[in-house]
Amino acid sequence: MKTRILKVDPRRPEPEPIRAAAEVLRGGGLVAFPTETVYGLGANALDPEAVAAIFRAKGRPADNPLIVHVADRQWVQELVKVLPDQAQVLIDRFWPGPLTVALPKQPHIPDIVTGGLSTVGVRMPAHPVALALIKAAGVPIAAPSANLSGRPSPTTAEDVWEDLNGRVDLILDGGETGVGLESTFLDLSTDPPVLCRPGGINPSDICSVIGPIQIDPSVYANLEEHEMPRSPGQKYTHYAPKAEVLVVEGALETVHAKINSLAYEYMQEGRRVGVLATAESRGVYQVPVVLEIGSRKNLPMIASALFSTLRAFDRHGVEVVLAESLPEEGIGLAVMNRLRKAAGGRVIRV
Ligand code: TXA
Ligand code: MG
Repeated sequence: MKTRILKVDPRRPEPEPIRAAAEVLRGGGLVAFPTETVYGLGANALDPEAVAAIFRAKGRPADNPLIVHVADRQWVQELVKVLPDQAQVLIDRFWPGPLTVALPKQPHIPDIVTGGLSTVGVRMPAHPVALALIKAAGVPIAAPSANLSGRPSPTTAEDVWEDLNGRVDLILDGGETGVGLESTFLDLSTDPPVLCRPGGINPSDICSVIGPIQIDPSVYANLEEHEMPRSPGQKYTHYAPKAEVLVVEGALETVHAKINSLAYEYMQEGRRVGVLATAESRGVYQVPVVLEIGSRKNLPMIASALFSTLRAFDRHGVEVVLAESLPEEGIGLAVMNRLRKAAGGRVIRV
């Protein structure tokens, strides 16, 4: 398949590329498009054949459900069985924006979308291109992140191209996404609601609107083989560059020293080592490739740079990435969740 790329103005999307992309979606094709979190790989959510093509293009396990994207709050009524007050309040407050809510699904949503689950995750993205595209398509759009399964999510059209060239019909290039990490995923089908994946909206902001929520254990740790996270996606190694990733956790100076000594050991073995550093620490490492993701004082900035930096290690031919752990406050919870998954649970405490 030949993959087309169309440039589009991220603030004021031109009608022409949007029309062309909407036509592809209506015809059952696949379109990668920017959202405020990461690029998504969209298909008509009501067309099981089109949705099946998403799974093939990404190499995604069939039991990993997709989020359905809408362009208008009203569309939710047609996707979920009931809209509880809690959901309505969250939607009013945080949409459009990086919050996905899961609720019992209407029967006409194909099973392939939800991986056989009885709930569906719905979100209204806060990106002019995504909104214009979904509106023009006129149907809800199922869209996972537009990466090959297991890889870091794409934050630019180039990242999408790197993974999916030849596998999708069209990429809408709207430049860099903003948040850089995926939406917060909240399952509202149970009481109390469960945070399945931290993301662009902070849990504390959700709690201030609907009260206490539960946090799925998979948010903090990689689960054992037999354990079942609420979000099927959380059980897979994910967000990973080709290099092996190792996270070092502890007091900062001890972390610096440990990373240097680990790096020395790996280099002795002849392996090419990289360090994921912060602005505060980039000078302390004696390692060939040191990539900085921003200041510890600016976690949103770090969030927006995380996936692209993980991809950059691959371009530097790095085989082992040693990463400093980061504070788990605010969006830092999401950053550390992604970093731990990228490391497949390899976290060293010092
Ligand atoms: O920001 C985002 O959410 C991006 C953009 C493109 O919107 N999308 C995204 O989709 O991150 P994806 O497929 O890469 O991640 C969706 C996650 C997966 O871990 C999946 O298992 C989980 O959400 N999920 C989807 N539907 C679910 C459901 N009904 N119940 C529990 N988890 C669900
Ligand atoms: Mg994904």
